[in-house]
Amino acid sequence: MKVLVIGGGGREHALCWKLAQSARRPKLYCAPGNAGTAQHAENVPIAADDFDKLLSFARKQAIDLTIVGPEEPLCAGIVDRFTAAGLRMFGPTAAAARLEGDKTFAKQLMREVGVPTAEARMFGPTAQEIAQAKQSGRGRDELSYKDFQSGYDMARHYVSTRDEGIVVKAAGLAKGKGVFVHPDPSEALLTLERLMVQRELGEAGQRVVIEELLTGPEVSVLALVDGLNIYLLESAADHKRLGEQDTGPNTGGMGAYSPATTLTESDLATIERDVFVPIVDALRRDEIVYRGVLYAGLMMTTAGPKVLEFNCRFGDPETQPILMRLESDLLDAVEATIDGRLDQIELRWDRRAAVCVVMASGGYPGDYPKGHAIDGLKEAGALPDVQVFHSGTATRADQIVTAGGRVLGVTALGDTISQARQRAYEATKLIRFEGAYLRGDIAMQASNR
Ligand SMILES: Nc1ncnc2c1ncn2[C@@H]1O[C@H](COP(=O)(O)OP(=O)(O)O)[C@@H](O)[C@H]1O
Ligand SMILES: [Mg+2]
Repeated sequence: MKVLVIGGGGREHALCWKLAQSARRPKLYCAPGNAGTAQHAENVPIAADDFDKLLSFARKQAIDLTIVGPEEPLCAGIVDRFTAAGLRMFGPTAAAARLEGDKTFAKQLMREVGVPTAEARMFGPTAQEIAQAKQSGRGRDELSYKDFQSGYDMARHYVSTRDEGIVVKAAGLAKGKGVFVHPDPSEALLTLERLMVQRELGEAGQRVVIEELLTGPEVSVLALVDGLNIYLLESAADHKRLGEQDTGPNTGGMGAYSPATTLTESDLATIERDVFVPIVDALRRDEIVYRGVLYAGLMMTTAGPKVLEFNCRFGDPETQPILMRLESDLLDAVEATIDGRLDQIELRWDRRAAVCVVMASGGYPGDYPKGHAIDGLKEAGALPDVQVFHSGTATRADQIVTAGGRVLGVTALGDTISQARQRAYEATKLIRFEGAYLRGDIAMQASNR
């Protein structure tokens, strides 16, 4: 069996690593992959957004199954393209992936079916303004806020009436850079200007969601969904902020651990019943069949769990500790999802905990250098119960070098979060590259609980 994984980050390395353990011994390809995926798969130099080339590669190689890692190709409809061509693919269609790609769509759906989430207002161009802008014959990039003045003015007005903390979110995909948390609501005015007038995030910020600022521990609950059946995976939590004690700018994620120690079995049952079931059913009612991973980012508030967002794929870096704990064959679970057989599978999990510590390039999430040699990977990977997942790495003349902002996800298993954490940090000490940055407090609070 031939399996193609699309993407080139830590999540994709973890997917390839796990698929390589399948009893069915699949032949693996990864496009474009990284130096880590190359240990298990044949890397194919095709970008994750080059649908034409991916499709012709899959056809020529007679790929039996393609698994999509990142959200951009999913939201842009790669599953629709592959499926129309008769190819098997794991992931939601564009219509279903809108749950992640359009935060106003997700919010409206949650409201409609009563899923607990932050109170919110949404602002953006009116249908009339969009029609007028289209008629003017100018391209998307030529449009300015003047074309959509009313949404901006209304958003400003709304913000000026708030005296408690608010969160401003660009509605579209923004690689984790589209959410602005403002304990002082007056600061949100500048964010609105940057998003809606300067259009710093382009079309993604043309519409915004402004919501109440919630507090509480954050957790990630991922489920396999086969259109009808929902199978919750082991829980996880990640650390978004760059700095220790959750300070500094948001990043793609500086570390993660599984299980999320703040979640009880009864919380998970509540989340399945009040979040996953109504959302999957509402989509089905609208003839949208959700197939793939559905990921709910939640905040455990004193009033219960509330959804911050949905993702339409495996999280990065949550996937690294989750898959470290999965004992069952991932390939079987993926196929059961595609074939609508999730009611017939039972996944086995390692009862131990897993912690993933991200090592990043100095300067990330801003500009950072690339091409620094990475040493000590073998020594770190040889430690018991340790896996070094690669994110931004490449091979140059037999030497593994840095090639991205997040470089490695050093992941370890342990009897407790505290032990897993200790092992992961021990492993990071063996790895060296110039300017390496990591947070020293990943899973620290959780290990004290
Ligand atoms: N309503 C909210 N109240 C407080 N913090 C929030 C709220 N919404 C989002 N956040 C914070 O911002 C982060 C990113 O928001 P999220 O909605 O997950 O967007 P994305 O992952 O697309 O950037 C969250 O992980 C959380 O820390
Ligand atoms: Mg998020």
